[in-house]
Amino acid sequence: MSVPVQRLVAAVDLGGSKVTGLIGEVTGDARSWGLRILGIGIEESAGIRRGAIRDFEETVRAITRAMKTAEQVAGLEVGTVYCGVSGVHIAERISHGVASIPGSEIRTVDLARVNDVACAISFGQDQELLHAIPHDYRVDGQSGYADPIGMTGERVEAEVYLVTVRSSAIAHQRKAVEKAGWHVGEFVLEPLAASLAVLTAEEREAGAVLVELGAGSTSVAIFQGGKLRHTAALRFAGGHVTSDLVHGLQITQAEAERIKVAYGSAYEAMVPEVEVIELPAAGGHPSRHTPRKLVAHIMGMRFQEVLELACDEVTRAGWGMTGLPAGVVLSGGGAATPGIVELTRDVFAARVRVGVPADGLRGLVDRVAAPGLAVPVGLALWGARQVATGSGFGAAGKSSPAVERVLAPVKRWLQDFF
Ligand SMILES: Nc1ncnc2c1ncn2[C@@H]1O[C@H](COP(=O)(O)OP(=O)(O)OP(=O)(O)O)[C@@H](O)[C@H]1O
Ligand SMILES: [Mg+2]
Repeated sequence: MSVPVQRLVAAVDLGGSKVTGLIGEVTGDARSWGLRILGIGIEESAGIRRGAIRDFEETVRAITRAMKTAEQVAGLEVGTVYCGVSGVHIAERISHGVASIPGSEIRTVDLARVNDVACAISFGQDQELLHAIPHDYRVDGQSGYADPIGMTGERVEAEVYLVTVRSSAIAHQRKAVEKAGWHVGEFVLEPLAASLAVLTAEEREAGAVLVELGAGSTSVAIFQGGKLRHTAALRFAGGHVTSDLVHGLQITQAEAERIKVAYGSAYEAMVPEVEVIELPAAGGHPSRHTPRKLVAHIMGMRFQEVLELACDEVTRAGWGMTGLPAGVVLSGGGAATPGIVELTRDVFAARVRVGVPADGLRGLVDRVAAPGLAVPVGLALWGARQVATGSGFGAAGKSSPAVERVLAPVKRWLQDFF
């Protein structure tokens, strides 16, 4: 297939249950861009836990398999990838910057300067800046300006939302991707990427909560006014649901995972009384029957706990659902569980839907139309948006030197802004 390499984007999502490689072609132009999915590879892996690499060699193996499969499906090779970052080693803070305006009119360079000032703080040991998102500008003491370019004034202040990450955690990820044979061009916060795949621009503007139910962690991200306002990673997720089934039903991990996906439900009341499922003989127990309602009860209890923690996180961050009228959008593998929408609605008392990547996509759309692929698709969309607007690096061929993110914060805040 002949797609100019600068129109290709590739992404790697290092998840707790799987590693996903994705290759796409950027379509359209800066004003109306999209992504044609050319190749995808998904490799089960337990090398990563809550965003941190636990088993380096296993992670390298999974990245290699996932990316090779994606390349085979696409019929081409790529060299540089966008890589997701998530987990408990992410930190956030609000920082302020101030600058005087030499001319009478505020120009892009003035905003760049004031944003740079806000970013020029110490992040603490082993922490580095991942994203800088200007939330608000003040001009001569007057707040509430999202974009003051062209306004007149003498002094501009910026309130910038900074997301930092543990340097050693991303250094390990970079090493694993490089050992597998690819380069990391840029790291992107996973919920920020996922929001491009499953939230509409209207939802991000009006206010919405993205809850990503993964295997090892649950990400909560609040969007409002078109911007990321808050993010947190919770330690409980789909893996705990599986463990509860192992203990509750006295079955193996593999069997619990199979039953969860085949017969699982998060909402006990939706499961008919009469339905029973067969549990195979295991661990000294003969094969037996169990009510499906019991499976739903066990799963529902854990999911409810996870969702209550997510809801508490929104409140703790100073938000209420009335200020987030677009409600909750669920993504991640756990969002495929029947009854999860109903349960989430009970917990949040808000509008809830499952986010499935589809908007703006072409090509192998049916292969990525699952909530569990919101992150890898979002990473590729993040890259596609950058390529379309002229600030990305494409997927550069294997022989090209590494395309590191050598952008000054000036460029960085421009890119993170949306
Ligand atoms: N159809 C399904 N029904 C219920 N649960 C499912 C389904 N498919 C996947 N899951 C669950 O979703 C979880 C995996 O989700 P996902 O693929 O989003 O996680 P991950 O990206 O590997 O991990 P993390 O993001 O936490 O590092 C597993 O616990 C899995 O059992
Ligand atoms: Mg994930």
